[in-house]
Amino acid sequence: MKKIILTGDRPTGRLHIGHYVGSLRNRVTLQNGGGFDEINILIADAQALTDNAHNPEKVRANIINVALDYLSVGIDPAKSNIIVQSAVPELTELTFYYANLVSVARLQRNPTVKSELQMRQFGEGIPVGFFTYPISQAADITAFRATTVPAGEDQEPMLEQTREIVRSFNKTYNCDVLVEPEILLPDTEASMRLPGTDGKEKMSKSLGNCIYLSDEPDDIKKKIMGMYTDPGHLHVEDPGKVEGNTVFTYLDAFAKPEHFAAFLPEYQDLDELKDHYRRGGLGDIKVKRFLNEVLQETLRPIRERRHEFEKDIAYVYDVLKAGTDKGRESAARTLHDVKDAMKINYFEDKALIAEQQKEFNAAAAQRKAQEERKARQRASQKK
Ligand code: TRP
Repeated sequence: MKKIILTGDRPTGRLHIGHYVGSLRNRVTLQNGGGFDEINILIADAQALTDNAHNPEKVRANIINVALDYLSVGIDPAKSNIIVQSAVPELTELTFYYANLVSVARLQRNPTVKSELQMRQFGEGIPVGFFTYPISQAADITAFRATTVPAGEDQEPMLEQTREIVRSFNKTYNCDVLVEPEILLPDTEASMRLPGTDGKEKMSKSLGNCIYLSDEPDDIKKKIMGMYTDPGHLHVEDPGKVEGNTVFTYLDAFAKPEHFAAFLPEYQDLDELKDHYRRGGLGDIKVKRFLNEVLQETLRPIRERRHEFEKDIAYVYDVLKAGTDKGRESAARTLHDVKDAMKINYFEDKALIAEQQKEFNAAAAQRKAQEERKARQRASQKK
């Protein structure tokens, strides 16, 4: 079986370093590792509209931002298809058919939907589109017959629900058209869930605690210097905690041995630095300055590549158009097979006309036979 990747992001803002360690960095490694037959990356604008229906302008403006972020981290359009979701109507069609295999109760149990509903406080009620977006995400994943979905752990409930839909579809229509996907999680704890600069559990635009891939050097520095550390570590000589200390969590996610060699040669690696912090005698400012060097070093080439791509926005849209066209071909093949399995491809179904004609003919023959019987009965009664 072909190994196929599908993953994606909602275009509601620029991507930040949480996206980077949680997913983008891994995508580039997978792309360049050559272990996959096909890589599809979806800019999920239709999904973004499920809770931005009154604000399509925001989605419209951020498709380019997400595309630029992809290209700048090293997604290569020659190796990966970047696809705009709303331009693949086959996804919407699949969603509509899958929706018949999912209960309202099952959607209500989806933990990601649950927590998002809590966060969003929909004024006039929950939009049906938002409530059912896990079904649309199952369509995204299955349309490309993805075997592998690199994503953060918050997407696990979506994958679980997708697998259920796949099993239900294949069983109901007695086929093996749909493929059960697996999630591919980031490989370190720190990458799994990068907290915001304020120490809050998640980096999120609405909390204002993000470092964006496109941030300028001064912004990055300012954000790092204002970061949350260990509140019990008041004086340099105090012993400090590294667990739950955001500066160290970021170092876990980003620092490499070569960063120590270049910027902090008195320590060999992060373990040594952590040990010193725990013992006491290591100030927050020094650790933050080091983190600043590490992040500046990591983000500089990304930002510079972004600025290059920003010079030719028409090219970026050409990339999206080409990726979308390719993606549509895969999705159309799957939709075709899905309708085939459901036997709702009426005009292509060669057997349909003959089969139904035969049934109608049989019924007509039966009617005729019955009439003849009745006629014979009437005739014999008259005698
Ligand atoms: N739900 C994902 C997010 O909020 C975006 C997304 C849409 C996605 N379709 C997908 C992720 C398919 C993985 C696979 O970021």
